[in-house]
Amino acid sequence: MNAEPVSLGGLDDAWRSLLAAAQEARGRAYTPYSRFAVGAAVRGGSGRIYTGANIENASSGLTVCAERVAVWKAIFESEQTLDALALITETGATPCGACRQVLSEFAADLPILVADTQGRVWMTSLAALLPDAFPRVSYAETDQ
Ligand code: THU
Repeated sequence: MNAEPVSLGGLDDAWRSLLAAAQEARGRAYTPYSRFAVGAAVRGGSGRIYTGANIENASSGLTVCAERVAVWKAIFESEQTLDALALITETGATPCGACRQVLSEFAADLPILVADTQGRVWMTSLAALLPDAFPRVSYAETDQ
């Protein structure tokens, strides 16, 4: 995995509270199909935390990942940037490719903590997970 293992006990208060928020959010996932619950928490530039969990659908492609639920909430509440993400799953999975691109819209780089449900924790970053994100484009400056 493109992430460094870190010790749960060594996390500072900011990471601890972000992880606790993600853990709580995971309990609210709607996953009758996969039974794979994901909890996410992002910290916005204001310092506020926004949480999300995956919400599945009988029409599978309409499922929304935990990360995107959290990001939509943060941006809708007027956050301009994202400063950190914590994600927890049974397996310690990193964000999917689509979510990486969505995160890149609001953060040039972003420290990302991933955790599993056994207390294992890893640190990575958006730059490490998505080195060549599709860049933000100012359409006003492009030739039509
Ligand atoms: N899922 C997420 O919530 N985040 C990811 O980054 C990858 C996958 C969800 C979608 C689906 O509900 C379940 O995990 C299994 O793919």
